[in-house]
Order: sequence, then structure tokens, then C-alpha cells
Amino acid sequence: MVVVMAPEATRSDVDNVVSLVESAGGEAFVSRGVNRTIVGLIGDAGHFETLNLGGQRGVAEVVRISAPYKLVSRENHAERSVVRVGGVPIGPGTMTLIAGPCAVETHEQTLEAALMARSAGASLLRGGAFKPRTSPYAFQGLGEAGLRILADVRAETGLPIVTEVVDARDVELVAEYADMLQIGTRNTQNFALLQAVGEAGRPVMIKRGMSGTIEEWLMSAEYVAQRGNLDIVLCERGIRTFEKATRNTLDISAVPVAQRLSHLPVIVDPSHSGGHRDLVLPLTRAAVAIGADGVIIDVHPSPETALCDGPQALVREDLAELAELVRVLPPVVGRELT
Ligand code: E4P
Ligand code: PEP
Repeated sequence: MVVVMAPEATRSDVDNVVSLVESAGGEAFVSRGVNRTIVGLIGDAGHFETLNLGGQRGVAEVVRISAPYKLVSRENHAERSVVRVGGVPIGPGTMTLIAGPCAVETHEQTLEAALMARSAGASLLRGGAFKPRTSPYAFQGLGEAGLRILADVRAETGLPIVTEVVDARDVELVAEYADMLQIGTRNTQNFALLQAVGEAGRPVMIKRGMSGTIEEWLMSAEYVAQRGNLDIVLCERGIRTFEKATRNTLDISAVPVAQRLSHLPVIVDPSHSGGHRDLVLPLTRAAVAIGADGVIIDVHPSPETALCDGPQALVREDLAELAELVRVLPPVVGRELT
């Protein structure tokens, strides 16, 4: 069961609901988004029925939730959410382009990649300062030095930044620099990290686990929401299957499924899913056509020298087609962008 507060609800209205629930022996988890607050109730629904929660000041509705993920479930909020990252909206009515280097390598490389991204219509800059790598010998990222470069490039380009945090111990540091915290596919079920970012006061983007189900992905989002943060963006980045022709198999059906099951925005990563530059634009077309709320794409000024994932990065020559795709295709497939 969840209590959806009205937009005008005050903090004392929320506190009143929480104290009523706790007085009935239940637990209440308050989760705040930009537009509304939802209170998740844990305990015997029968006890809650007697509390007349729907009649309390500031309460918009009380909803029984059958899904195991209560706060992110669409059952408690018919309309889909918009998440704002540094003022940039992601959600229904948007086809937000996030682009940038897979890894921050130098200030010059990151600035050049950011200018490439912006020229293609990106409104958010991606860039990894902490890099999860299969091999301990591979480039691990510049750490805080990389975060400082991202902050400088944000100042130079005006692009808010999305960057990954890999270790719960780094959440406070990364949150000082990032406009949105990214949880990588390898950490989608790192529950301590999810709880930590839920308390960091920043929007969070959660990559789908490469071997995870959609329900597990939504439960990961519930971990973040349960800690008080409803500003969550889901990113379908491909799943591990038997197919070797692509780096991962983009599960394009996950976009409408996740949008039906949860009110959270859903974006697609054509770079890490396909794993090859020549697949990025076709997969971006698929993402636009199926209704993704955005895409996140690797770009690099000289991929042959990239320290991470060079083969999947778009180059300058690809940008005009990317810009055209993201701008022109949505109305062609019946999507009215606001
Ligand atoms: C994402 O950018 C990851 O750091 C990268 O895809 C990891 O790839 P690897 O495990 O092959 O190093
Ligand atoms: C990334 O986007 O930099 C990344 C590590 O992607 P994923 O977690 O999807 O592999």
C-alpha cells in the first residue's frame, strides 16, 4: 500500500501520515520526487484501513499495490514521471540525448567530446571518472581528477553531468560533482550502493543488470526510492545472451514493459548494448521508435586512442546523422515532444 501526497502537501501533512502508520505498528518510507511525495507502507494493510489515511490533510490517494516494488510501481501513479537533471527533463514528452566520453581521459579529450555531444543536440554530458572493468589491469578511471575535469567541462559547455559511482564509499564525493549519479550494470544489485545513492540528494540512473530480469531492475530502483529518492531514471543497456555478434543483446521490449510497470523514465544505451560503432545509430532509431525517453551514447574525438570502449564510440562524422535522428524521427513515429 502507498499513500500518494497531493502536490501542495506540507511536511507536517507527511509527518502526520507517518505517525499514524507507525501508531498502527507499521513502517512508513517517505520518497520525494520533484513533483510529489509518496509514502510506502509496510505492515498489515488491514490495520491501515482503520486509519482513514485517505481523509488526512494533504493526501491525494491511497493505493493498494500488488507489485513487490511499491514506490516505483505505476499502480500508485498513473502518469509517468519526469526527472530533472540539472534542469534538463527526462521523461514523457522528451527524447533526451545524453552523450560524452565513456571515460574521462584528459581535459582536452573530454572538452572535445562534450562539444561533439552538444553539436549533436545532447543536453547532458556523460563521462566515467570511476570505471568498472573486467580486468584489474585495464584503465580504472581518473577518480576525483576525472570529476574535476567533468566539472570544468560543464562550466565551459553548460552541459550538466552524469557520471558513475562504483563504490558506496565514493557516493558523497561523486555527488558533490555530478548532476546525476549512474549505477552501472555490474552494480545493479549492489544493494548497499543503491541505498547510499538513495540518500545522496541527486537523481540516479540505474543501468539494467546484464543478467537481470526487469522485475529485479525495478526492485533495485525500489531500493533507491525507499531511501527517499524518487528521481530515478532506468537505462536499458543490453543483456547477456548466447548471441556473440553484438556485445550485449539490446532488449528493446524492456522499454515499453518497464514504462508500463513503473512510472519512471526509461532510456536506452545503444553504445554498450551493441558494442560497435556501426550499430549505435540503428539501435538509436529503434529506441526512438519504441518510445524511449532518451538515449545515452559514447562519443570520442579519436576512438582509436580511447582507454575504454573505443570501438563503440561515435566519431565526428556520425554526429550530423545522430542529431537528425534525435530531432526528426520522433514526430515521424507519432511522438509529440514537448
Ligand atoms: C563501461 O564503460 C565499462 O567500464 C566498460 O564497458 C567495461 O568493459 P570491460 O569490462 O570490457 O573492460
Ligand atoms: C558506462 O555507461 O560507462 C558503463 C559502465 O555502462 P554499463 O554499466 O552499462 O556497462
